[in-house]
Amino acid sequence: MQINSFEEYQETYQKSINQPEEFWAGIASNFLWKKKWDHVLSWNFTTPDIKWFEGAKLNITENCLDRHLAENGDTPAIVWEPNDPEKESITLTYRVLHEQVCRFANVLKKNGVQKGDRVCIYMPMVPELAVAVLACARIGAVHSVVFGGFSAKSIADRINDAACKVVVTADGAFRGNKQIQLKEVIDDALIGCPTIEKVIVLTHTRTPVSMLKGRDCWWEDEIKLVDSNCPAEEMDAEDMLFILYTSGSTGKPKGVVHTCGGYMVYAGYTFSNVFNYQPGEVYFCTADIGWITGHSYIVYGPLSQGATTLMFEGIPTYPNASRFWDIVEKHQVNILYTAPTAIRSLMGFGSAPVQGKDLSSLRVLGSVGEPINEEAWHWFDEEIGKKNCPIVDTWWQTETGGIMISPIAFVTPTKPSFATLPLPGIQPILVDEQGKEIEGNGVNGNLCIRFPWPGMLRTTYGDHERCRLTYFSTYENLYFTGDGCLRDKDGYYRITGRVDDVINVSGHRIGTAEVENAINMHAGVIESAVVGYPHEVKGQGIFAFVIYPGLSKDEELTRKDILQTVTRIIGAIAKPDKILFVSGLPKTRSGKIMRRILRKVAEGDTSNLGDISTLLDPAVVQEIIGKSRQL
Ligand code: WTA
Repeated sequence: MQINSFEEYQETYQKSINQPEEFWAGIASNFLWKKKWDHVLSWNFTTPDIKWFEGAKLNITENCLDRHLAENGDTPAIVWEPNDPEKESITLTYRVLHEQVCRFANVLKKNGVQKGDRVCIYMPMVPELAVAVLACARIGAVHSVVFGGFSAKSIADRINDAACKVVVTADGAFRGNKQIQLKEVIDDALIGCPTIEKVIVLTHTRTPVSMLKGRDCWWEDEIKLVDSNCPAEEMDAEDMLFILYTSGSTGKPKGVVHTCGGYMVYAGYTFSNVFNYQPGEVYFCTADIGWITGHSYIVYGPLSQGATTLMFEGIPTYPNASRFWDIVEKHQVNILYTAPTAIRSLMGFGSAPVQGKDLSSLRVLGSVGEPINEEAWHWFDEEIGKKNCPIVDTWWQTETGGIMISPIAFVTPTKPSFATLPLPGIQPILVDEQGKEIEGNGVNGNLCIRFPWPGMLRTTYGDHERCRLTYFSTYENLYFTGDGCLRDKDGYYRITGRVDDVINVSGHRIGTAEVENAINMHAGVIESAVVGYPHEVKGQGIFAFVIYPGLSKDEELTRKDILQTVTRIIGAIAKPDKILFVSGLPKTRSGKIMRRILRKVAEGDTSNLGDISTLLDPAVVQEIIGKSRQL
């Protein structure tokens, strides 16, 4: 399944385009199926309707666990590094992980979870999080993991959208020198969640928590009441595996739906190839399992390939900025997959935290989540990779399920800040605003994909029309990514950033409309407009223009109040970096906010605002510019 030379990549790519069904059937045959498919692919991008490996039966956990037991049962599956470096790390072999997953799967069953039921998981980055995810998959329940930084309201929205039956959580989480009271957040969320019947609580921080009779139970007690024999549920390839909520340009977050067969094949294939994983190697992805990167490249991709995946509970700067490098040294990490934000933030500490650390085990470096600037790329290459490790700049999305455009380590010649070339099976196309293809090289356009791949989303939970509208209606017969893209003279792709109203803050996708709605819920706020602006460490920062008529002298306090409201409604990750109080917003006569102008102001570049003659009240712009200079 692994590609070993650039020529082989080119040949494989051609085959994957000319005979996609044959190509993917070949890849899929490297996995364990209870029954093979009747039909590889049927699809249309109009309704849309996409089916891979129809008729096939499988369970992804047999691929991630059972099939490794005979020969690699004692191989470490998960190595866990705690937040506190003084605490012991934990290793779970494939045998132990299998046992724990089966046991917890029985706990879920005992608590009424059946095939097809939705389970919300809100946990710290501990091995039990991976266990809970896999236990759902074991019995055919659909997991919906919610990142530990989201607020009670965000959790409630997600639980209600999917009508989840059970929540799996922990008392609390450690993050650097902070503790997050997860159970307390869940308790607040559940006030508005009538579908939840049971809450299973893992002891981790051992902070006092309230336990509601009949609803709440302890993980540790429950696992004692079941055995570890749990046959894997037989799933159709197109049965739902999980829902993961992600932000878009409008409305509430959407529940992106991935299915069992195609997702498994795609996550496993891309993991094995992009990182050139070799048996016995230690692979460390620094993402949180609450995001797609954690789903595909901490859990499913690596485990499906029998890899050793390192899970880190903490943050890169605790107890100091050497933490990642200490982990690399301690666990002899061979492959490190992280985000530009982390690289930029660590780069800010200079080379001192890296000095004296033994990074010689590193073989491959990876980057994901946002465009990586050249400076960060070179720092990563020189300081961490010692100019001896390929950097795979992997472009993909929650919706794509796995990496789409990326170098293949040791195969694709890299170029700083370029995601380079599409992986086999991926057919990118650049189009103009009208959807007309932009051919040739040395061009810019909106990035679309013109042919299905196994890992793509199938729908958005409970609202298929929204899936069609968001991804398949902008341009006929194309999947629209929402990203702008450059194809250079060599045909290499460079993702330039979102072209819709989504901003990418520290690699987290945040919808401007969501932040606006949260700000508008603050008492006293009449209206707001949110845009992104370049931020040295986070990639993009959040800039909010807010109309708040009764503003007293204590502007700073009001600002903090608004931040508090946003934290309550969405979570701390959506807090604006800057708030500018204004008396009006630049609107066209039809009432549309001209965001282009606000973006310019937020960027601090007001020299050329373009045509503002269509504005209802051009004077507003002068006021905004004036005030922004004082910020
Ligand atoms: C952005 C994360 C540039 C992009 C896996 C995309 C990137 C969004 C890259 C998806 C990259 C991701 N270079 N931009 N290598 N990787 N992006 O759903 O804008 O959290 O649309 O998935 O992140 O974010 P999501």
